[in-house]
Amino acid sequence: MPTPVTRLSSVRLASSLFESSFSSRPAVAASAPGRVNLIGEHTDYNGGPVLPVAVERRTAVAAGLEDGWFFVSALDGTVRGVEIERPLKGDWTDYLVGVVRELRAVKAAPAGARVAVATTLPIGAGLSSSAALNVSAAKALSLLAGRRLSPSQLVDLAYRAEHDQVGVRCGRMDQTIAAHGAAGSALLYETGSGAIQRVPFAGRLWVVETGVSHKLTGGELNQRRQECEQALEACRALWPGLAHLADLSTDDLPTVTARLAPDLAARTRHVVTETRRARVAADALARGDLGQVGWLLVEGHESLRTDYRSTVPEADAIVELAMEHGALGARLTGAGWGGSVVVLVADERSARVMAEVVKGFREQFCREPAVWSTRAASGVRRETVRA
Ligand code: GLA
Repeated sequence: MPTPVTRLSSVRLASSLFESSFSSRPAVAASAPGRVNLIGEHTDYNGGPVLPVAVERRTAVAAGLEDGWFFVSALDGTVRGVEIERPLKGDWTDYLVGVVRELRAVKAAPAGARVAVATTLPIGAGLSSSAALNVSAAKALSLLAGRRLSPSQLVDLAYRAEHDQVGVRCGRMDQTIAAHGAAGSALLYETGSGAIQRVPFAGRLWVVETGVSHKLTGGELNQRRQECEQALEACRALWPGLAHLADLSTDDLPTVTARLAPDLAARTRHVVTETRRARVAADALARGDLGQVGWLLVEGHESLRTDYRSTVPEADAIVELAMEHGALGARLTGAGWGGSVVVLVADERSARVMAEVVKGFREQFCREPAVWSTRAASGVRRETVRA
């Protein structure tokens, strides 16, 4: 399978975009990865565990000092002058504006800047392009202001930019993996306690893009989060003092099913079973038992399809095709309602299995899905700007 775009350097793209747009060299640059979440979906805003992997595709931000704010993205090459305190515009610049506002709040923003952004991540493919942008922008702009923020500070800042400023009611998984990702490891992040643990994973993951673009600002994620809050309220009437939905055990599920409205019971069932699956999968991954990890991915997908109702027919078809042709496991990854499927497959079978997935998808949907592979990559980093 060809994977040429992952070999491009987002930093080189951002630096040359900066030079051609602003006729000068950037003073600083930083990059951060996208992610696939192996398992633990919609658990991060319910106090449960997630198991993401940083991918080799990254977003880079190159920046230089300026009076005022000027943003350009490789996606359209148009330089935009931006007022940080004006209302948000509903486009990609909102994320950068959110980051600048949050940097100002901690006195880590430059007075103004020229900023160029480039990415090798597909946008709207459920691979966390927005967190990669926010984390890399927070890193580059704080460096430009002469501040060195820790990975945890970058997570907080990028999260507030997306959640509080842009208004996406996301959890903290995406920013956490973009900042703390490590080559050769998945990250077990227990969102209830904040504990982060690396789980060695030297293997390769395959990503199949459904081509159905999800837009989190479109509202489904916000709606699910609201349902989870309602479910938590209802559960607190039964179990006073319950901190998070993920703190329920599978033994509590018959009571949940009997007492909550059917939709809320289904969302709770997903969160509780997914919490168990993610912890078992992290153990299995640490033992190198990819067969068990694979089955947990398939169970997780089924739970997203029937209980969380966040899958789309294209994703269901990719999972079925991958399993039918010999993958170890496959699952919709990220928020859902489109996006991408992650496939775990033994190396010696991968070419054949992925070719069958592409063939079957083409037959059903009359178009070609984008397919590529990645190993676990590193998190945010400062990049050298070439002289
Ligand atoms: C989006 C959010 C994450 C997480 C996932 C679902 O990617 O940004 O915080 O909630 O959806 O697991």
